[in-house]
Formats: sequence, structure tokens, C-alpha cells
Amino acid sequence: MKFRNPNVLLFILSVLSISVSWATSATADFHGFLQCLTKRSHSAHPIQETIYTPQNASFQSVLVLHINNRRFSTPTTPKPLAIIAAKNESHVQATVVCAKRHGLQIKIRSGGHDFEGLSYTSDVPFVILDMFNLKSVDVNLAQKRAWVMSGATLGEVYYAIAAKTKVYGFPAGICPTVGAGGHFGGGGYGFMMRKYGLSVDNIVDAKIVTVKGTILDRKSMGEDLFWAIRGGGGASFGVILSWKLKLVPVPAKVTVFNVTRTIEEGATDLVYKWQTVAPKLPKELFLRAMPQVKNIDTKGKKTVAVSFLGHFLGKSDKVVALLNERFPELGLQRRDCHEVSWVESTVFWADNPIGTPINVLLNKPTEPETFYKGKSDYVKKPLPKHVFESIWKKMIEIENIWLDWNPYGGRMNEISVSATPYPHRAGNLFFALYYSSWYDEGIETTNKYLGLIRELYEMMTPYVSENPREAFQNYRDLDIGANQDSQTNFETAKLYGKKYFKGNFDRLVRVKTKVDPHNFFKHKQSIPTL
Ligand SMILES: Cc1cc2nc3c(=O)[nH]c(=O)nc-3n(C[C@H](O)[C@H](O)[C@H](O)COP(=O)(O)OP(=O)(O)OC[C@H]3O[C@@H](n4cnc5c(N)ncnc54)[C@H](O)[C@@H]3O)c2cc1C
Ligand SMILES: *[C@@H]1O[C@H](CO)[C@@H](O)[C@H](O)[C@H]1NC(C)=O
Ligand SMILES: *[C@@H]1O[C@H](CO)[C@@H](O)[C@H](O)[C@H]1NC(C)=O
Ligand SMILES: *[C@@H]1O[C@H](CO)[C@@H](O)[C@H](O)[C@H]1NC(C)=O
Repeated sequence: MKFRNPNVLLFILSVLSISVSWATSATADFHGFLQCLTKRSHSAHPIQETIYTPQNASFQSVLVLHINNRRFSTPTTPKPLAIIAAKNESHVQATVVCAKRHGLQIKIRSGGHDFEGLSYTSDVPFVILDMFNLKSVDVNLAQKRAWVMSGATLGEVYYAIAAKTKVYGFPAGICPTVGAGGHFGGGGYGFMMRKYGLSVDNIVDAKIVTVKGTILDRKSMGEDLFWAIRGGGGASFGVILSWKLKLVPVPAKVTVFNVTRTIEEGATDLVYKWQTVAPKLPKELFLRAMPQVKNIDTKGKKTVAVSFLGHFLGKSDKVVALLNERFPELGLQRRDCHEVSWVESTVFWADNPIGTPINVLLNKPTEPETFYKGKSDYVKKPLPKHVFESIWKKMIEIENIWLDWNPYGGRMNEISVSATPYPHRAGNLFFALYYSSWYDEGIETTNKYLGLIRELYEMMTPYVSENPREAFQNYRDLDIGANQDSQTNFETAKLYGKKYFKGNFDRLVRVKTKVDPHNFFKHKQSIPTL
């Protein structure tokens, strides 16, 4: 059915046509798009209630609700013509069909944590297909499976699992506000990756809306497309509605710790040893090293402190004994350790003190907090000590920066390079996130930090993976090659494609060409057609 009151429709269309005149190009027909949506609306699920245009009072608050990076929430950031906050699968189908028919680009957004804002910005007229209302998490304990809709956050997934069981979990990311939609599409790693691999290694089914507006599951989409969306970036292939997770067993009590040492306390020797020890530890132990800049005194003298964050699928006595044998220099003691349930360990890793109630996992910010830039690297050969020293020096110069160094080994080494599009498997010691963030909104400040983090990345060139210099797609970085939203150039796509996917890029291109031959689903780093 359509609008019950035809005047309402007329009113919307007339105000909307105003925005069309200033914002759309000749080919994009926003007016036609809205009419098309209305025509496809069903009485049981009226689509009007999901459409926000700049005329709706809450447009701005809905827009920023899932913007994570303030760099893409400034007055000059291009704004969508509308946000369709789908409440039913049929709204997703209608948005795809109507946008395609009327020449509008869609940006698919789940948690909005894309480092470069690709889920809510574009340089051509666009609408946001916002998934946050589609967020149910349905845990089936008997089958050890959970269906998760794309708009759910990781915190909501962990919380829902824990409401049913203490002895199952799921290997996924560390930040609870990350959305399932983008996270799983890009691989998804967390503190159980050495035991169970990535999220995508534990996803057994999915539902997708194709460019034709059809809903397919694993069986009907076929193994090629199901392969592609598990790490190849969902947004090149369709809209992922939901994912079926295979839950993994965890002990009723796990152990976490956070031991920090400054340069003055021997951090350089510790990380030097850590890089070869951590990848060989038992799979149950994930030992991240996290260097960050710290004030030594009140006069502004700075140092680097490295936090060794541990997650052990077992009791504290065991991990203390293990590390005192394999890495005695760290000096881990029983009193550094906390035995908690698996879900409490996700709360601890999200930077909350021990004892924080687990419903903190459900908290969500209402607007972005910081400006930031992230980059990633894979390290295959031990870094010489002098490189660590140069890193510290550069970090102290940058000041607003931290690094996450995540050890490889374990299950990551056992999964073949082509099992999923995520190709960074055996042969790595650790992978690195460089993350600089700041609060000052001046463009000079932004340019300063962008320049500094790029200098650090340049400095690392001789010591990290090469040909290609590998990068993690979930840590989106437009510096490594990017297209325009208006056009996907194959040679440019090959640049970022080989870094994110290595040899899997070619298969991704074949799948893309088959399922979306006219390249409707595109963004600055999407998979091109042949
Ligand atoms: C603070 C922070 C911490 C992080 N921690 C981790 C971590 O521990 N481990 C890890 O692996 N990654 C981590 N990430 C990276 C994160 O996994 C990616 O940014 C991920 O893509 C975010 O998903 P999202 O749904 O929140 O983002 P969005 O910005 O909504 O989407 C990201 C990309 O996926 C596309 N997309 C989103 N939803 C869908 C859908 N339903 N169908 C098709 N395409 C879709 C978007 O169009 C966009 O291209 C972190 C990021 C941040 C900002
Ligand atoms: C936006 O405003 C229009 C016109 O008043 C209304 O029909 C629509 O329901 C509003 N959208 C939402 C999400 O409330
Ligand atoms: C969407 O609508 C259909 C038909 O009414 C219903 O079966 C389905 O459960 C709805 N989906 C959601 C997510 O509410
Ligand atoms: C670990 O300790 C460091 C230094 O005190 C702190 O900055 C960091 O937030 C802590 N991390 C976690 C996950 O507790």
C-alpha cells in the first residue's frame, strides 16, 4: 500500500524536490527514487517511517549516530540526500532496486566504524542505507549457532551469547561498538584468533540482498559468492542482511592481564624478544603488545610504555608458569592476572576496569569523539632493536599515537591463503595497527597528524611485508590506492586489491563480474569488474 494520506506524500515530494535541485547530478533522479520507494512500500512495513531527509528534524542526529571518525563529520563532508534506516528486509530490497533504477549510489552502513568513512560519504549524489535497526541476535545453543543481523554491534553479539551460555563465545573484534556488517565482511580478528582464526573462519551461512533485490542464502548464492563476502568486503557484492556464526567453546573462566613497561623499564628488550616468542606460544594464549606515548613528569617529558595484554583460555596459574618459562623477562605474576568469564574478558579488553558490569557492552556513543587515521602492516622478519628505538622516537614526536601489535601463529598458520579472501596467514610474526587520534578540529592539525603517521609508515618500509606491502582491509587506508566514487579504475583497484587480498583479488574480480556486472555496489576501494 501507499500513503494513507496523499497530502503527506505530496508534501514530502515537494520539499524533497528542493534538495534535489541543489544536490543531484543530471543522471541521479532522487525524486524518482522516493516515488519508487513509496510504490514498493507495504502496509505492514511502511517505508516512509524509515526515510530521513534533511527536512526531518532528526536527520543530523541519525547521520552522526554511526559516524565514528570526526574527520568525516565536518561542514565540508558531503551529506547524503537521504538516510533509509531499514526496519525490514523489504526496505533493503526496495532501496537497492530503486537506487539502481534512478541512478543513485548507495552507501551501506552498519556500525559506521570504517576508518575512512566509506559507509557514509561519497563524491557523487548518494543515500545511506543504514542497517542499525536490523540488529537481532538469535542464539541457538542446541545447535551452537547464532544468526546475527548486520546492524548488531559486536558488544550486542557478545552480550547475547553470554545471556545463554558461559562456555561458548565467538572470535571477533575488540571494540564493542564495531558493527557486524562491516566487521565480518572484512575478516574480523580478535584475541581468539590464534585459537580459532578470524570471524570469517567461523561463519557458516549468510543472507544477502543482491543487485536485483533478491534475498539469497549460502545455498542459493553458491560457494563463490559466499567465499567472497567472508573477507572480500560485503559492500562490493550486495547488502548483507545477516550472518550465521558457529559458536566456539571457551572455558568457564579465562585469564586476562595487562602488564606495562616503559622504555626505562626495559620495554625495548621485551618487545624484541616478544616478536619471536608470542607467535610460538600455545594457541590458547594471545599476547598483544601495545606501545603508547606516556608522560614521565609534569614538565612534558615523554616516554613510550608498552602494555602486554594477555588473553588466556585457561587458569592464571597455568599462564603464569607458561610465561615464566617462555618469557621470564616479562615477570608476569599471579597478582597481575584476573580470572573472569569469557564475556567479562571482552569487557576488560575494551578498556574497562575489572568488575565493570557487562551491560557496558551495549553502550553506544551518539556522535563521533575523535579525528583519526589508521594504517596497517604485516611483519614477517624480526625487527632489529634499532628499529624499535626509531619507532619510539617517532612516536614521541607524534605524541597522539598508539600501536597494536598482534601476534600470529596458531590457527592462523593452519588456514590456507585461499580459504577466504583474507590472505595474510602463515609466515607472519605479527601485524600492526598504527593509530593516531586527536581532538582539535583545525585542518592544520589534521594535516599535521596525517603527515606524521605517513612518515612513520614510510620509515617502516624496509622492515615489513613487500611485493605487495600487505594491508588489512578492516583497517581501511585510502593512501594505498583509491578510486573515485564515480568511477572504478581497474589498475587503481589492483593496487589496493593486491595489498588487501594478494592472489585472492583475481577470484574476487571474477565473482564481482558475475554477481554485479554493471558495478552498482561500489566505493573508493571496492572490487572492480573485469
Ligand atoms: C575503534 C575501532 C576498533 C576496531 N577494532 C577492530 C578489531 O578488534 N578487529 C577487527 O578486525 N577490526 C577492528 N576494527 C575495524 C572494523 O572491523 C572495521 O572498521 C569494520 O569494517 C567496521 O564495521 P562497521 O559495520 O562498524 O562499519 P561500517 O562503516 O558501517 O562499514 C564498513 C564497510 O563495510 C560496508 N558494510 C557495512 N555493512 C554492510 C552490510 N550489511 N552489507 C554490505 N556491506 C556493508 C560499508 O559499506 C563499508 O564499506 C576497529 C575499528 C575501530 C574504529
Ligand atoms: C520524515 O518526515 C516526513 C514528512 O514529515 C515523514 O513522513 C517521515 O515519516 C519522517 N521520517 C521519519 C523517519 O520519521
Ligand atoms: C519483515 O517482514 C516480514 C513480513 O511481514 C516478516 O516476516 C519479517 O520477520 C520482517 N523482518 C524483520 C526484521 O522484522
Ligand atoms: C593497559 O594499561 C595501559 C597502561 O596503564 C592502559 O593505557 C591501557 O588502557 C590498558 N589496557 C587495557 C585493555 O586494560
